[in-house]
Amino acid sequence: MYEKIFTKYDPVQENLIYILHDIQDTHPQHYVSEEAVQEVSDFLKIPSSNIYGVLTFYTMYSTKPRGRNIIRLCESPPCFLKGSEKILARLREILKVGIGETTPDGLFTLELCACLGVCGNAPVMMINDDVYGNLDENNVTAIISGIRGGQE
Ligand code: FES
Repeated sequence: MYEKIFTKYDPVQENLIYILHDIQDTHPQHYVSEEAVQEVSDFLKIPSSNIYGVLTFYTMYSTKPRGRNIIRLCESPPCFLKGSEKILARLREILKVGIGETTPDGLFTLELCACLGVCGNAPVMMINDDVYGNLDENNVTAIISGIRGGQE
């Protein structure tokens, strides 16, 4: 199932994190399944326990199905000081999920993350690969509505 990804890499352990990234990025539910771990284990000839070790060490990986859109709200101090708590409260209210949870329609997963490197625009969140800065309770609502409207 992942042959297309495997053809891009030499079967060496140094490529593990890149392979896992590709698998997660191309999965519609943004996660690395048990089946994927087994296939990577066969491809790299390393035990699946080593792969799970990497998957659980890095917060960017998930072993559980997630939403089509991954929201990562920055919780580092500059964003916190600029009101990321209020943004989080608004996101939880709009989406009706807690941190780490996925909306029942499978559209959004809400996560927290460390500095995204654009502190000048704090508070900041990423949705998939897009960065949204200078958030307030109004524009965050509009951003979510816009995505929802485009994908329902
Ligand atoms: S602290 Fe939030 S982007 Fe840097």
